[in-house]
Amino acid sequence: MDALETRVAVREEFCLESRPEPCGVVIFGGSGDLAHRKLLPSLFRLFQRDLLPADFFVLGCLSYGDSPTTDEAFREAVGRSLAAGRPAPPAEAVSSFEKRCFYQPGEYGDPGLYEALGRRLAELAETLGTGGRVLFYLAVPPSLHEPIVAQLAAAGLHEEAEDGARWARVVVEKPFGRDLASARALSESLRARLRERQIYRIDHYLGKETVQNILMLRFANALFEPVWNRDHVDHVQITAAETVGVEHRAGYYDQAGCLRDMFQNHMLQMLALVAMEPPAAFEADRYRDEKVKLLRALRPFPDAPEELDRWIVRGQYGPGTLGSKAVPGYREESGVAPGSRTETYVAMKLALDNWRWSGVPFYLRSGKRLGRKLSEIAVTFKPVPHSIFSALGANHLAPNVLVLNVQPSEGISLTIEAKKPGAKVCLGSLTLHLDYRQIFGGDPPEAYERLLLDAMAGDQTLFVRSDGVEAAWSILDPVLHTSGEGERCGTGCGVHPYAAGSWGPVAADALLAEDERAWRNP
Ligand code: BG6
Repeated sequence: MDALETRVAVREEFCLESRPEPCGVVIFGGSGDLAHRKLLPSLFRLFQRDLLPADFFVLGCLSYGDSPTTDEAFREAVGRSLAAGRPAPPAEAVSSFEKRCFYQPGEYGDPGLYEALGRRLAELAETLGTGGRVLFYLAVPPSLHEPIVAQLAAAGLHEEAEDGARWARVVVEKPFGRDLASARALSESLRARLRERQIYRIDHYLGKETVQNILMLRFANALFEPVWNRDHVDHVQITAAETVGVEHRAGYYDQAGCLRDMFQNHMLQMLALVAMEPPAAFEADRYRDEKVKLLRALRPFPDAPEELDRWIVRGQYGPGTLGSKAVPGYREESGVAPGSRTETYVAMKLALDNWRWSGVPFYLRSGKRLGRKLSEIAVTFKPVPHSIFSALGANHLAPNVLVLNVQPSEGISLTIEAKKPGAKVCLGSLTLHLDYRQIFGGDPPEAYERLLLDAMAGDQTLFVRSDGVEAAWSILDPVLHTSGEGERCGTGCGVHPYAAGSWGPVAADALLAEDERAWRNP
């Protein structure tokens, strides 16, 4: 037993394992980046760990222009993606997984594809015993979501048996619209064909281990809840910093920007989990009701652009250095419009108008090409009301900070003040760190593993409901139109430059400096 195990006692007590019924997974965009980097490797790892039903299949649905052209060629492509994983998986496991993979070519707008798909699904259900249960995964650009769902419905592929024995579920990837109006239109269009229980809006942050753990930490311990409020919390900082730039996604990103790409979904979802009231049960609708309630308590941003500067700062990276490598600025990236004003960084201050959080600021920031990859939620508590250690020169004691480390090193840290051992009386800050990798070994599972398993098992808890999507857009929608896109843009709409490899624009520091606080820049 190593030193760490003697200090950290881990007992596995209560587990809920979702074991789906036999079913098939159809991936639209089966040759795409998402399918090959995330979905197929996640399905494969579930298969390896024996968490998938014994009877299942994956059907990659591709438009004609995309290679491959046969089941065999598709299987080879799947095998290549899996073999690229680290550590490389055993060849036998890859080969048994490949045997469950099939391929269906066609044009997404062509009704003929859906007729052929219907026939193929019926055959596979028959030979593989999946009972006509199908999860359709839309790993395609958002503009194809509505047309594909319309075609599925026209071909009757969305139909379910009343007794639940045969089901059809659709997983929709973000972005869910590009503003409030388009999100509502998308919701209406989906709901005209599908029931809400058939729609799985995926936000992969909700499947991350440490994000899932927020609820357990808050609601399975009596320790935190009594201090989780305006009386004890000074402020909360939520950071999602990336070192990557736009990579090969400029076409999408230059139209979207950081507000739509990170805030409408991941950032506001993390905020909701940290700040929501306890649901009566860990049950999909009760849990989602509380999240929506919380998002609706967010105070709207001020209207006047010059006021807005005190609540939100946007930035765009210029050339800089990451490590020792020189990297180009955003406008030099391939596929980005010259002179683009799209933001690659956003910092904002949010206020919650409810009893628990009134007066407690929540500072959120996210950006690309920042100094370090880091996602965390840091809850800073109020300092002690009076220091009895003034003789040590400690009149202002550092506050306790609880940090939920989302990535890259998943875990929890708590900073406390403590005596440094020794004859002298020395007080200092001590950080207790629970590092999941050290404690549990290995890398935590990919977020998509949990989410795919839940979707197959029919558990919508970690998926976003349409009212949650709309509540998030309602907050951001007014500021989208002050980012240089709309007539309300004035002096408060600037996109501040920052050097790649830095921690974002200097203007973002002023958001906190005004409140006599500072960002945690690790
Ligand atoms: C995606 C965004 O949703 O999340 C990307 O579209 C971003 O721009 C990514 O890079 C971040 O996810 P993760 O899991 O790497 O933090």
